[in-house]
Parts: sequence; structure tokens; C-alpha cells
Amino acid sequence: MPSVPLSPRDRSDLRLLSWGAYAPLAELTGEADHRSIVDEMRLGGGQLWPFPIAPALSDDVASALSGASSVDLLGPDGELLGTVTDPEVYRTEPATDVKSLFGTDDPAHPGVAAVLEAGPWRLGGTAQVDADLSLAAPFDRHPSTPAAVKAAIAERGWQRVVFFQTRNPIHRAHEYLTKCALETVDGLVIHPLVGETKEGDVPADVRLRCYEVLLESYYPPDRAMLALFAAPMRYAGPREAVLHALVRANFGATHFIVGRDHAGVGNYYGTYEAQDLLLSLGQEALGVVPVPFEHSFYCNACGAVASAKTCPHDQSEHLHLSGTRQREMLSAGELPPPELTRPEVAIILQEAYA
Ligand code: ADX
Repeated sequence: MPSVPLSPRDRSDLRLLSWGAYAPLAELTGEADHRSIVDEMRLGGGQLWPFPIAPALSDDVASALSGASSVDLLGPDGELLGTVTDPEVYRTEPATDVKSLFGTDDPAHPGVAAVLEAGPWRLGGTAQVDADLSLAAPFDRHPSTPAAVKAAIAERGWQRVVFFQTRNPIHRAHEYLTKCALETVDGLVIHPLVGETKEGDVPADVRLRCYEVLLESYYPPDRAMLALFAAPMRYAGPREAVLHALVRANFGATHFIVGRDHAGVGNYYGTYEAQDLLLSLGQEALGVVPVPFEHSFYCNACGAVASAKTCPHDQSEHLHLSGTRQREMLSAGELPPPELTRPEVAIILQEAYA
């Protein structure tokens, strides 16, 4: 049987698809869905869906699959993951598709670069996954499948549950958003993305220790829990915010936090573009209530994290909090101050950067 080696990113997407995390998507995207997702942000059947999910094929593999009725899927190390029956091999137009998916075709954008690098060929069809794709240690300490996360929520008896996406260690502005949101619902799921990220982002295993120590020290255990989102990061701003919100409903979310420049990178997206898109789509389309937050900062005069909505003081009192700023300080050997990052988290990050 012909076989297809998957990249780590494609394996991550297959894992989530096989777990039901990408519902309503049930199959690897075929050509008709690909076009409608790229052009309309919808599946051919009309449901909201922002990204094609289909492994990339090299030119050689694409031509070797011609006429095959079934195809083996191999992991990045050659291990058998499963099979695709009635495979559909099709050609895409990466150079133009990226403009709709990412709003730019700049190859310096990490998400654009990943699509361009994957080349034009894709594999659609019904994937049957036989391998155990559970996350390995240390990520097996926390629930990561939709079934496990929903079971953990049910065990706690939460009805209204807000989810928080992040690809960064949690800083004080993140903590502020999560706690403000928690005030209005029953429970909070910190749901960091632990799939593939770009170079320069803090590695997932380091972040995991930061999340664990933060939850232990600063969140009530009966109201907040950590679960893992094994997706790769696309850095696609508004479109990725749609993916992030939509799939959280499959994990048991009723509410989803969206702050400033959600899933953004560099200066490609407007500060509130992602949030405006989620608010315009609304709960009915997304399956979760978007919970928007303004840009938050630490205000010396307030002695607290605040936003323009809640703080009357001059900008000179404000310390701006971002993952980028935090990484810059750590790279320069500086320990982020407690106004920016909790000391327990700062120490783990400093050790990792040293
Ligand atoms: S993301 O790529 O996962 O979106 P990040 O981890 O930086 O990046 O952000 C996680 C969430 O917190 C996003 O919803 C983002 O909009 C929000 N956020 C991050 N920093 C701030 C801030 N200073 N003020 C308001 N929202 C923020």
C-alpha cells in the first residue's frame, strides 16, 4: 500500500481530527471543501470552518498515490498512524490561498511560510487512525482529548465554563483576563496550545511548568483547571481566533476569552480585528460566547492590572504586558518584575533562558 509521511504539524492536526476536536469536520478536507474554506471560511455544506485540514504531499508522493484506493499515514518517525480510504489527491494554490487564510502572502509570516513550504499537493479522504496518539510525558499529566476535558468539567459540576487560549507563559495581564472572566461563570479552563509553535516562542514543556506552578499558587483548584490544546499554531489572527473559539465548544467551553491581537504575530493584524470578528459571528455561529477584553496593562497608580475601561491614570503610569516583552527581558538576562510576571513563573523562565 502506498504511504504518506506526515510532518509534525500535520500529525498534530490528524490527532485532533481523530479525537473529534475539529467537529464539524470529520474527514481530511477534499478539494471542494478546500476552496470553500479558503474563499468563504465555510465548509462546502455551509458550516463555519476557517482552515483546510489535509496533510501535505511532496510531488513524488502525490504522483505515487495516483489510482490508490487506500493509503497508509506514517508519523514523522515512519511509524504507522492509520489509513485513508478513497484518498483524494488534489492540487492547491498556496501562493494565493495564503492571502485569504492569513490576510498576507508575506513569506516572513510564520503561518504563511509553513503553507508555502508544504507545497501545492494535499490529501483528502476518510482517515482511520489506529495508533495511540495520546500526548507523551510530561504532557500526559493533564487532560487533552475533548472527552477527557469534558469529563473533568462534569466532575466539577461546572455549567458555565470559560476557556483561555494562550501560546505564552501566563503573565499578569493574562491572569487578569482569566480571573475577570471567571468572576462571571462557574469554572475556568486554562487551555494552552502545546502543538508546534514558531522559533522564539517559549517551548511547551517550559510553559507547562509555568502553568502548573501558577495554578497551584494563584488559582482556586475547585474553580480553575489546566487542560492542553495539542494544535499547531498558525499565527493567523482573526481566522485563527475563529478556529480557537469554534473548537473549544468541542472541549466543553460555553465561553471563550479573546483579548488584544489574538493569535497575532508582528504587525499583520489590527489590535481588535480578531475580537471584532468573533463578536460579529456571535454565539450561534461559534458555539461559545466570545468574552472580549481590551488591552490590559499594569498601572502603578492603581496598583493593579487594568485597562483603558477601568483606569483613569496617565499612560506614564502604565507598564505594558505582552509575551513578546517578557521574552525580550528574559533574552537580555533580566528577571521580569512581579507587576509583569508572578515570581514563581519568572524563576522557571529565567532558568530556561539561562
Ligand atoms: S495567542 O497567540 O495565544 O493569542 P497570547 O498567549 O499572547 O497569544 O494571548 C492569549 C490571549 O490573551 C489572547 O486572547 C490575547 O488576545 C490575550 N492577551 C494577551 N495579552 C493581552 C493584554 N495585554 N491585554 C489584553 N489581552 C491580552
